[in-house]
Amino acid sequence: MMSASSFQEKEFNTKSFDGNLWKRIYNLAQPEHKDLKMLLLVNLAVGIMDALFPYLEKIGLDYFAVAEYRQNELTAYILVCAAGIAMTAFMVYQVFRLAGKVEMGFSFDVREKAFAHLQILSFSYYDTTPIGWLMARVTSDIARVAEIFGWSLMDFAYGFFNMLAVTIIMLIVNWKLAMLVLVFTPLLAFLCVFFQTKMLHNYRDVRRINSRITSSFNECISGAKTTKTLGIEEHNFHDFRDETREIRHASIRAAVLSSVFMPLILLIGALTSALLLNYGGRNVLSGILKFGTLMMFTQYAIQFYEPLKAIAGLIAEMQMAQANAERILSLLDAQPTVTDTPEVIEKYGTEIDPKIENYEEMIGNIIFDHVRFHYIEGEPVLKDFNLSVQQGQTIALVGETGSGKSTIVNLLCRFYEPVSGEIRIDGHRSQDRSIGWLHSNLGYVMQSPHLFSGTVKDNVRYGRLDATDEEIVEACKLVNAHSFITKLEKGYDSEVGEGGGLLSTGQKQLISFARAIIADPRLFVLDEATSSIDTESEKLIQDAIQKVLKGRTSFIIAHRLSTIVNSDLILVVRHGEVIEQGTHRELMKQHGYYYRLYTNQFIRQRQDEVMNQSALENA
Ligand SMILES: Nc1ncnc2c1ncn2[C@@H]1O[C@H](COP(=O)(O)OP(=O)(O)OP(=O)(O)O)[C@@H](O)[C@H]1O
Ligand SMILES: [Mg+2]
Repeated sequence: MMSASSFQEKEFNTKSFDGNLWKRIYNLAQPEHKDLKMLLLVNLAVGIMDALFPYLEKIGLDYFAVAEYRQNELTAYILVCAAGIAMTAFMVYQVFRLAGKVEMGFSFDVREKAFAHLQILSFSYYDTTPIGWLMARVTSDIARVAEIFGWSLMDFAYGFFNMLAVTIIMLIVNWKLAMLVLVFTPLLAFLCVFFQTKMLHNYRDVRRINSRITSSFNECISGAKTTKTLGIEEHNFHDFRDETREIRHASIRAAVLSSVFMPLILLIGALTSALLLNYGGRNVLSGILKFGTLMMFTQYAIQFYEPLKAIAGLIAEMQMAQANAERILSLLDAQPTVTDTPEVIEKYGTEIDPKIENYEEMIGNIIFDHVRFHYIEGEPVLKDFNLSVQQGQTIALVGETGSGKSTIVNLLCRFYEPVSGEIRIDGHRSQDRSIGWLHSNLGYVMQSPHLFSGTVKDNVRYGRLDATDEEIVEACKLVNAHSFITKLEKGYDSEVGEGGGLLSTGQKQLISFARAIIADPRLFVLDEATSSIDTESEKLIQDAIQKVLKGRTSFIIAHRLSTIVNSDLILVVRHGEVIEQGTHRELMKQHGYYYRLYTNQFIRQRQDEVMNQSALENA
């Protein structure tokens, strides 16, 4: 769909088995290794026990059903059988318990790693990776691989040991009959591998389409309001229907395959037993072969496909799941594009484990020195950007949409790194201090502020986790958010909804304002939202801005120019270059771009005010 269009997922190799890949996946689940080994061991035992039961029956038939026997021999036999059954039951219980535990444990280990990793990835990763893709990695891919580690591996171990034990028993008891059963093994194995692979291919198609459907849903739900405003419901529905039609075909194919597979296998089993009965039956009649032995062999013949199926199943599944495994690893392998050098980490620690005692105090002098930048190779956004800012100054950036304003501040905040040139803070290259240091001194109100699910209070506290309730109220008062918050049903304890959806844009902005300011940052960045808000909120925000700017180096990206008339320096940005700069007065005198922009806005604003006024008077 739309968001995925620019995202080209690399094709994953599903043909050849990649041992290294699985080893890496295996190593991700270190804490599960003990249980996994235990699981294999218990399966070894169950596989052998299951192979032994037909043999026990043979003894029962051959010895106790026909021959003279002593009572205590029968008692011993019954006890052995009962003990075997009880033991197997207990072990099967262990198998399920362990397989479930390994599956869950694996999911947990890998999700934990993925979560931690997602925290350290840079802006650019999220620019280019659709949310739906990431969601699928951390949910279905991990679940799928975890399933293999728990259940498929268990099936495999069971099948392998069971087949081994059955083969050995058959060869020992009667090698000629054994040959009759074993002669069909290659055919069975071939059928198992062939069908399992085909079925899993289909299954994978189903999953792939399913994940597309999930992402369609994702877009459909998150963009529901936009869809309605655009009136493209019909169009979206068509897309969706095509997807679901495809999934239907794939599902039917899978069902047809499995309905052919099982009868084929059973047919071979029946054929083998027929041969056995024919050949062995005559031997029984002539007294060369005991009846119980023949029964044992027919039983083995009918069951022999089961372990083969389990083994073929694992091979096919691992081949398919290799793509899932690769995608998990590609997420975990993704490197943040903006990182600290080892020397910087040595001194300042990481973002997760910072050495705050080594943090210098930020003064707030900032220099952009011949900064060049692009998001996409060959499409430069900043060609040669230079700027010198003194501590405490307020810099305003104005310019048309797409001119590069947000880009400039994002570079300053090190969400991206310049392609060439450098940014210096207090005389030091930005890269020579840590990202953690920079961000601990930064308050940033984003163009589209995001609030987290939780209460108003929680959200403000994200700005400084140890802030007291009083400090939160103080920050909210400073940014003029206090009065509207207290009018909410539960005041500071009101839920804001996912992404702040229960609040208006202006309210969200005021809260993110409070959140940015509560840590008392030296560097303050405000990327003003273009969306229009009511004049009341606008006044509140503007007043808040004036209060907040005092004593900090600030960058204000303003769409409403009235916000920035008092700035120390106004930069008019066009196509990534500064075309005019100066104070409001100086720029007005120049009668250039800024002058036209301002007078137009001013006239429009005045018009609106007059209109509102007369509307009120007429009412
Ligand atoms: N993540 C990104 N990936 C690729 N290109 C981007 C990205 N973000 C911005 N751009 C491009 O870089 C240019 C500058 O964008 P930027 O967001 O800095 O503009 P802006 O001045 O902040 O615009 P607005 O006033 O609409 O916020 C635009 O051409 C935009 O298309
Ligand atoms: Mg912007």
